[in-house]
Amino acid sequence: MPRAFDAYNTLSDAECQDRVRAARARLGRDAVLLCHHYQRADIYQHADLTGDSLKLSRLAAQTDSPHIVFCGVHFMAEVADMLSRSSQTAILPDLAAGCSMADMANLARVERCWRELGEVLAVETEVTPVTYINSAADLKAFCGAHGGIVCTSSNAETIARRAFCARPKILFFPDQHLGRWTGSRMGLPLDEMAVWDPDLPLGGLAPESIRKAKILLWKGHCSVHQMFRKSHIDAFRARHPDGLVIAHPECAFEVCAAADHVGSTEFIVKTVKEAAAGTRWLVGTELNLVERLAREVAPQGKTVQFMSSVVCMCSTMQRIDPQHLAWTLENLADGQVVNPIRVPEHEAALARQALDRMLAIS
Ligand code: 13P
Ligand code: SF4
Repeated sequence: MPRAFDAYNTLSDAECQDRVRAARARLGRDAVLLCHHYQRADIYQHADLTGDSLKLSRLAAQTDSPHIVFCGVHFMAEVADMLSRSSQTAILPDLAAGCSMADMANLARVERCWRELGEVLAVETEVTPVTYINSAADLKAFCGAHGGIVCTSSNAETIARRAFCARPKILFFPDQHLGRWTGSRMGLPLDEMAVWDPDLPLGGLAPESIRKAKILLWKGHCSVHQMFRKSHIDAFRARHPDGLVIAHPECAFEVCAAADHVGSTEFIVKTVKEAAAGTRWLVGTELNLVERLAREVAPQGKTVQFMSSVVCMCSTMQRIDPQHLAWTLENLADGQVVNPIRVPEHEAALARQALDRMLAIS
């Protein structure tokens, strides 16, 4: 019988850290810890491998450890499960660690959207469904089944360009902001990107708007990145005319357009770390990443400032705490797997098609 979580709820963080270290020593190479850049510091310190969504997908496919303990959110653990071998097990220390953006699209709504689009367009030849990796496995399977593809924040433009070679339009879900920024990077005017509202018949669009649109943008967003505003950038530039601004493409279009650099979490970390000593940065992405980066580059005289004046953390990613990690690893060291993430094979096979198309071209 696995140990119950209840007994861990009352443990102090310090005690959990000791128990995590002891369990890891017992496990050795039997478990690998993958951590997304947004993980809290008390979890991140235990990571074997870190990265953005694309890098972690590749690392999950490459590791030969039998247990992949994923300190991230649910869709990332699903990807690790689908890209690793069937003898390996992906584990998410807290099943409640989801992604609120991923939840903004679900299969029933996307299928309805596809049907409704089919009343106006020849969808199977005119529209490529492109799902951001921040989506459930069944939506990746939908893309696999309909000639579509997955993208991440670091390869969205490459993927969209390839999609346009195959079909003249893209249905992009669930993040309208990444879709819009990607389209604008390709030179598409904003009026050729129409927002599809899944709560309204025909997405709230007139048939002629659908025919005109090159990209149909699902009405979804990230609750963390929507907090950043162009006014934050304006205030920073007024105070620090030499300062540099870097933002994640999940931010609103106006924020991305006003930034000096836009890119994935891995890109943000790399760009600021490689920047000249003494530079000052305003960073528009999740707070744990920004605070860690600020600490790491301070010795080179670099200043890193968070874009918002209010705390913007990924509250779901935060759920992976020392208590859940200790519980997961101690059970694993006892030979008990808790919280395995297993995508049903019929779904995984289709989703893998969409993931493999992405990995082959990015
Ligand atoms: P990355 O692709 O940069 O890891 O972003 C994932 C994510 O969820 C950002 O909110
Ligand atoms: Fe999802 Fe936003 Fe958290 Fe990224 S920051 S995992 S998009 S809720």
